[in-house]
Amino acid sequence: MKQISKSIFYIGTDDVDLDLFESQYPVPEGMAYNSYLIKGGKIAVLDTADARRGEEWLANLAEALDGAKPDYLVVHHLEPDHSALISKVLELYPGLVVAASAKALQMLGQFFPGMDFGGRTLALKEGDVLDLDGCSLKFFAAPMVHWPEVMVSYEQESGTLFSADAFGKFGALSVSGFYGEEEDDWACEARRYYFNICGKYGQPVQNLLKKVSELDIKTIAALHGPILRKDLDQYFKLYDIWSKYQAEKPGVLVAYASIHGGTAKAAKLLGDMISAKGVRVKMMDVARMEVSEAVEDGFSYDKVILAASSYDGGLFPPMYNFLHHLQDKAWQKRRVGFIENGSWAPCAGRIMKDMVSSMRDMEIIEPIVTLKSVMRQEDKPALEALANEIIK
Ligand code: FEO
Repeated sequence: MKQISKSIFYIGTDDVDLDLFESQYPVPEGMAYNSYLIKGGKIAVLDTADARRGEEWLANLAEALDGAKPDYLVVHHLEPDHSALISKVLELYPGLVVAASAKALQMLGQFFPGMDFGGRTLALKEGDVLDLDGCSLKFFAAPMVHWPEVMVSYEQESGTLFSADAFGKFGALSVSGFYGEEEDDWACEARRYYFNICGKYGQPVQNLLKKVSELDIKTIAALHGPILRKDLDQYFKLYDIWSKYQAEKPGVLVAYASIHGGTAKAAKLLGDMISAKGVRVKMMDVARMEVSEAVEDGFSYDKVILAASSYDGGLFPPMYNFLHHLQDKAWQKRRVGFIENGSWAPCAGRIMKDMVSSMRDMEIIEPIVTLKSVMRQEDKPALEALANEIIK
């Protein structure tokens, strides 16, 4: 059993054979459902785990308790990857009280229909302190990071921030290392996690960053990913950039979705033209890129070229899917240019432009470059003009 501080024990579990987190995100390195036990004169369990690892989590809890009885189950976040075992814990420990935001307590019955929580709940609000006799947790509301009921807490004696989903990442701790010591790039899977899970909620994340900025945080203990305790400024800096929808990487993302290669050829030539001007280019084949990875790249660059074929009187579905995901995640503040292709009735450009125009603070570059089936010599000046415009 891992001990994070004098009073804080890790009781979470790794899920190394999970195929899709939230039934949609591939997690080749698994997933961690983090959970903690705080032992003062009183004892608090912080969140539970996903039902997939129920037995293991209950065994971890029993080992950490070592025969003691917990007083509180603190629920920072009610999503089932952290809350699936609430009813089980309440059955096992009849004296246990669920401490959570009023919103979480209001939603609790939805997840455990028929369960009687009467007299076994404690509503927490911003600024409340749960005194555990020797240590204490101060609570901060964090609505929409990532659900409306979320709270984070700060263990005042050790300076540990229990940050709920914030600062989480994909990947099991057996892969990353408990403190992230096995990986050299925390940001890679933390970034994909952030934009796909919390990307839509930039302002709520900004609100949370502001609230905790006054705290003396020595450790970040999220609900997923390694426990962070070194160079914490780097994580706060990245979260600030991401939640402001700023571009982390200078350069141009050229995202193309090509059926038979004609669109791809033009996109690659455009990429070469931009590179020749000394600007970094990232090429991305949208049709072959897993969409959560594509979304991550979409958010990483401030300048983006979208190149796609027309298809069935509409937009080639891989590009539609990509843009639909970006729309869902509140993609914004980007400079975007377009290449469309169509053999008899090109329409991809109009559809991409309409989708991007519906997003906030987008700079649209016109004209759209239109190809008819394949790129011709006479298309090259228009591509050169687009290369000059996108880098402005
Ligand atoms: Fe890890 Fe929003 O649940």
